[in-house]
Amino acid sequence: MILSMERHASYPMLFSMIALSVMFFNCEGPEGPAGTDGTDGTDGIAGVDANETCKVCHNDGGMLTGIQAQYAVSGHATGGTANYGNQEGECSECHTSQGFVYYQANGVSSPTHFASVSQPDCRACHMIHTEYDSTDWAFRVTDPVVSFRDATQTFADFGTANLCVACHQTRSSALPALDATADVSVDTKRFGPHHAPQGNFMDNSAGQQFTGVAYTPSVHTVVADGCVTCHMADGGHYPYGGHTFSMTASFHGPQFNDTACDVVGCHAGADVKALITATKADIAPLLTELKAALGDYLDTSGYLAERTIVGTDTTYTSPTEDDPIDFDPVVLGTVYNYRMIAFEDPGYAVHNPKLARALLQNSIDALP
Ligand code: HEC
Ligand code: HEC
Ligand code: HEC
Ligand code: HEC
Ligand code: HEC
Repeated sequence: MILSMERHASYPMLFSMIALSVMFFNCEGPEGPAGTDGTDGTDGIAGVDANETCKVCHNDGGMLTGIQAQYAVSGHATGGTANYGNQEGECSECHTSQGFVYYQANGVSSPTHFASVSQPDCRACHMIHTEYDSTDWAFRVTDPVVSFRDATQTFADFGTANLCVACHQTRSSALPALDATADVSVDTKRFGPHHAPQGNFMDNSAGQQFTGVAYTPSVHTVVADGCVTCHMADGGHYPYGGHTFSMTASFHGPQFNDTACDVVGCHAGADVKALITATKADIAPLLTELKAALGDYLDTSGYLAERTIVGTDTTYTSPTEDDPIDFDPVVLGTVYNYRMIAFEDPGYAVHNPKLARALLQNSIDALP
């Protein structure tokens, strides 16, 4: 290939080179004055053998492949929302690795979508291939997180779990002020906190906190390193914990990682799974009562709507962008609380059951 190109190119090139040298020879004038001496250069820095730094991670040990294998079965890898979340403006900062990196670097959502995206991966959470040494395991987020929805709110310091809270927090609908009395126009039936209010639960700040029963936080909210301590506890021989980020696994039946509950010491030897079931059963009647109380404002799927009953016919009208509906601010706050606990944080009974109870009770009492 190269040879044949040279063969084709050689004759014209040779001619022009001869022509050029003849030109320079003919144009040469008298010698100019000598230039001043240059300054001494600095000594070069000894190069790092790239191969050696790569080996910090890319080596014949099983650490990297082992963690990749755990990550591969995690909800982060398998959830499949990266492409759906690859949108202009909001979504990509939590649903894609690229969008998260952009948001953390620029403090705003990427204004354009990305040509291609991946799920929240190693690069989202760690500074992979920045320095090409072990410092690349550093976390992309280390400081307490400023709320995505409300720039005036900063979450509590959860140590290594600040990283988790950067994405696992409420967004979408803004709650009306607690003392608001005027109706609020809403243009979506999805009024609520979005799917991941775990950070707000752990921060004891979730939901519309009507007055009534005190909002005393569960002791789980002060577990050191929060989410990480429970969800990444060493999984032993079941595919949970570590980089699966999961408390549960399905292997020879449903399995539950109670290691974290024991490590912290409070539930050593206890049947924690039964404790969770009992806590949920204890909270369930409050959920049922609130749902019934909100009958005029929740459609059959649990979305915000307005119910009209004519004779034996029941119609639900959902707010849309074209046809917004005005709602009482107390109704909106209670719908938000109901949806958050009924649908959006499957772990509420562990993350902060006391908050869930108080929110439900106070919502029931706040409704006219
Ligand atoms: C801090 C640990 C670390 C160091 C140091 C490191 N890598 Fe990586 N490398 C990773 C991780 C983690 C991945 C991504 C694996 C994944 O996504 O599953 C990766 C992926 C790769 C890939 C696959 C393509 C890609 O970019 O995802 C190549 C190629 C690669 N590294 C080359 C190198 C080279 C060459 C060096 C040294 C100059 C190096 N790495 C240093 C951790 C490291
Ligand atoms: C870059 C944003 C981001 C960060 C950081 C993040 N998550 Fe997630 N997480 C997500 C998204 C998005 C999903 C859902 C993925 C999907 O469905 O495609 C998810 C899913 C999960 C799930 C699975 C939920 C289920 O229903 O199966 C768990 C558990 C979880 N995350 C825990 C954590 C923990 C613990 C941390 C901190 C170590 C963390 N996450 C950090 C965005 C993030
Ligand atoms: C502040 C971070 C954040 C933003 C912004 C965000 N999400 Fe999410 N979203 C999450 C997290 C975290 C989860 C996973 C929650 C879980 O599994 O418990 C999630 C879950 C979801 C799910 C459910 C996935 C499933 O497997 O059930 C959908 C769908 C979704 N988001 C769509 C969107 C869309 C569309 C947008 C933009 C309009 C968006 N999200 C913006 C954090 C965010
Ligand atoms: C959702 C965020 C998240 C993702 C995605 C993630 N990690 Fe991690 N990683 C963490 C957290 C948090 C810790 C600390 C765990 C602890 O303290 O027990 C950690 C710890 C580690 C450590 C130990 C670091 C040290 O300094 O000893 C390694 C190695 C590691 N992760 C590699 C990976 C690799 C490889 C991937 C991709 C396959 C990955 N991580 C994906 C959050 C994440
Ligand atoms: C005290 C331990 C503990 C802490 C701290 C904790 N979780 Fe959980 N989390 C659990 C348990 C246990 C479940 C399962 C609850 C159940 O089965 O009802 C769960 C459920 C979840 C779920 C639902 C999906 C699933 O796997 O069932 C997500 C997502 C989640 N947690 C994320 C987080 C995030 C993000 C944080 C930090 C903001 C956090 N958790 C803090 C123990 C904890």
